[in-house]
Amino acid sequence: MKLEDQVALVTGAGSGIGRAIALALSVEGARVAVNDLIDESAEAVVKEIRAAGGFAMAVPADVADGRAVLKMFTRFLSEWDRVDVVVNNAGALFLEPHVVTNMQAQAAERAAGGPVRTPLEATRTIEDGVWRRTFAIHVDGTFHCTREALKVMEVRRSGRIINMASIAGIGGLAGSPDYSAAKAAVIGFTKAVAREVAHLGIRVNAIAPGFVDTPLLADLPASVRAAILAQTPCGRLGTVEEIAAAALFLADDRSDFMTGQVLSPNGGYSM
Ligand SMILES: NC(=O)c1ccc[n+]([C@@H]2O[C@H](COP(=O)([O-])OP(=O)(O)OC[C@H]3O[C@@H](n4cnc5c(N)ncnc54)[C@H](O)[C@@H]3O)[C@@H](O)[C@H]2O)c1
Repeated sequence: MKLEDQVALVTGAGSGIGRAIALALSVEGARVAVNDLIDESAEAVVKEIRAAGGFAMAVPADVADGRAVLKMFTRFLSEWDRVDVVVNNAGALFLEPHVVTNMQAQAAERAAGGPVRTPLEATRTIEDGVWRRTFAIHVDGTFHCTREALKVMEVRRSGRIINMASIAGIGGLAGSPDYSAAKAAVIGFTKAVAREVAHLGIRVNAIAPGFVDTPLLADLPASVRAAILAQTPCGRLGTVEEIAAAALFLADDRSDFMTGQVLSPNGGYSM
């Protein structure tokens, strides 16, 4: 097993990609601290891991809250005394209903051969609270967990941090200015920290998935999904297992020569 005796923290691991990563790390022998905003979701994944013979602990917390993150680290470190892998995966996509309606109208206009006349009205209508919450979860959350992880990893002179970005942070996603900006910030943060700590034996990389079949995309209407598939050369959504495989690769020693990189499993959506 590639991660025997190691300890991993996965944030937002109660669902979708994070859950798949937590399970994959556990199969490779890691003890997994399962974080989520929703207690029951974290507990359910812990049960799943234990049922399969692995070791896991639920550490629910809002990663946007720096003090809650400090408490979460104190809690699992007091029992396991180390952290080797941190996956900053917690995330949310807030799509206003009128933006979704406008996306549908645009998809219909494109399907009819264009031109696209409907404005999305995303950037000029987004509320301050939504903008800030998106940044708080993705950017502040990634920063809070990285800060706590480095306190341990710098002393041990070893560690791997994996930040969940998105193709939205590379190419931009119309309708999600907050999400795209936050994911771009995660990529910049990844590279800065990678440069800072490489000489201490700590690697920091990002994953920028394309569209993956999870509850995050639940609000997307069928016509918008069809438009996404039409722009994805592989012609399908990604699976959570495919993203977990990328995370596992960045978590173990096969990727020892990689730091500050953005790995993008996206079915060819972005090249
Ligand atoms: N699904 C996709 O198409 C896709 C594509 C690119 C990137 N991503 C990114 O992958 C990550 C996982 O997304 P997913 O698709 O599995 O979504 P998901 O909704 O299935 O899971 C996200 C999890 O994060 C948790 N969470 C949200 N805010 C949190 C907070 N403040 N603190 C702790 N936990 C919190 C949620 O409760 C949920 O369990 C996110 O960062 C997302 O932006 C997803």
